[in-house]
Amino acid sequence: MSTTQLFTNPRAKHGFQGRSCSIISVGSYVPERVLTNAELEKLVETTDDWITSRTGIKERHLCAENEFTSDIAAQAARRAMEKAGIAADQIELIIVATITPDMPFPATACLVQQKLGARNAAAFDIEAACSGFIYALEIGQQFIMSRTYETVLVIGAERLSSIVNWKDRNTCVLFGDGAGAAILQHRPDAHGLLTACMGADGDKAMLLCMPGGGSRIPATAVSVKAGLHHLQMDGKETFKNAVNAMYTAAQEALRRCELNISQIKLMIPHQANRRIIDAVGERLGIRPDQLFINVDRYGNTSAASVAIALDEAVSQGLIQRGDLVLMVVFGAGLTWAAAVIEW
Ligand code: ACO
Repeated sequence: MSTTQLFTNPRAKHGFQGRSCSIISVGSYVPERVLTNAELEKLVETTDDWITSRTGIKERHLCAENEFTSDIAAQAARRAMEKAGIAADQIELIIVATITPDMPFPATACLVQQKLGARNAAAFDIEAACSGFIYALEIGQQFIMSRTYETVLVIGAERLSSIVNWKDRNTCVLFGDGAGAAILQHRPDAHGLLTACMGADGDKAMLLCMPGGGSRIPATAVSVKAGLHHLQMDGKETFKNAVNAMYTAAQEALRRCELNISQIKLMIPHQANRRIIDAVGERLGIRPDQLFINVDRYGNTSAASVAIALDEAVSQGLIQRGDLVLMVVFGAGLTWAAAVIEW
């Protein structure tokens, strides 16, 4: 059934001259190795009960020693390409969202381009932490709408295990590795991405950061010893900001499309903490069957989180073409975003 009558395309409202952009396929990849809460009990002073009750996380996946962000990103991309029947040489742009690039430069997107053999593609990375995938989707769609490119590959990929302090129980229980990818093209029969509201608050940049390794604190023996090359987080403040920002972004995205929450088939929130998801869902007045949750199996995979979740939701048949999907994310920066998609 066409959903055209159900909502207003906000882009059309503003004299939209471009063409629509759809996600034509998704793919994801998580490394084989699973780290359970029981194993974490042996690493730091924690319990399965604490982790489960405070976060909803039961296990997460970790990259092998010789498996890097570009490897898992390429694996996710191959799966998305296979589903859509897209050959590597059709891809004209690769955008990788990550806070754990293989190295500060070159861009991980260039390493992915090489791994895929996507010789015709331009490639760059973006960094918006856990909000990265929706930021990258919005950037990618600009190139489709403007008719600059026909086929764009967007990936969220993280090897967070490489920046987590495995001695810090406040953070090490929360994160995991993984990658998700989406192929963007114009589909004449669909509205595709209807809107993406993005926001940021640099005043709160230090709530969640990795202080070392950049131009401010380059790597030295002292910076390594001081633990500045690990992720640091004020969990309580991050939690509060996450709930507010995700709720506000979701409301704004719905408002722009003149939709109410009951018209959304599935909401796919950033999978950081089950309690954050529940609090946002409750404030939005969403039914449990409208909410996708897989944080129990993957933990927080930052930029990969909603991309993996979207792929799983599609694989499980929870969304069909024409359904309306709301994706909501939040991360370091602080950054946040919400997107409404006609699937
Ligand atoms: N096991 C046992 N005890 C623990 C653990 C652990 N793994 N971690 C912390 N504790 C202790 C703390 O030390 C504290 O003890 P104290 O009271 O003696 O000091 C106690 O548990 C309670 O800590 P709280 O901070 O009150 O726990 P809270 O309920 O806030 O949960 C958590 C902490 C899970 C980190 C939560 O605050 C959270 O999820 N925050 C948001 C994280 C997030 O969403 N990040 C998203 C962005 S990520 C990105 O952009 C890369």
